[in-house]
Amino acid sequence: MIDAIEASDAERQSILIKARCKSRRAIEISVADSGPGIAPEVMETLFDPLVTTKPLGMGMGLSISRSISESHGGGLRMAQNDPRGAIFFVELPTAEATRDAG
Ligand SMILES: Nc1ncnc2c1ncn2[C@@H]1O[C@H](COP(=O)(O)OP(=O)(O)OP(=O)(O)O)[C@@H](O)[C@H]1O
Ligand SMILES: [Mg+2]
Repeated sequence: MIDAIEASDAERQSILIKARCKSRRAIEISVADSGPGIAPEVMETLFDPLVTTKPLGMGMGLSISRSISESHGGGLRMAQNDPRGAIFFVELPTAEATRDAG
């Protein structure tokens, strides 16, 4: 996200992190930036390993982050932010949900 916002004017650079209880069973952390948004050519594949648009990128960050979220029983998804940028949502089960499942 730092990479994504670096190109825009300093006063427009922002990363907004929020957390909320989505339901009794899940919390959601959202991380939104003011960058250019997701490039159309990686829209479908950005969570796949080795998919990158960056000259020095490995294309591993999102793949690893999604694996970690899923291994905790949650998930990671992305959307275009409004009016600009990308927004990622990490969803994780609450202690209550984990207890019910266990
Ligand atoms: N906040 C964002 N805004 C716009 N595009 C993004 C954003 N985050 C990721 N992307 C796109 O998704 C691609 C894959 O991201 P990912 O984090 O998996 O790999 P990377 O950042 O390229 O390399 P690495 O994380 O391994 O250093 C990026 O190359 C970029 O094109
Ligand atoms: Mg990355």
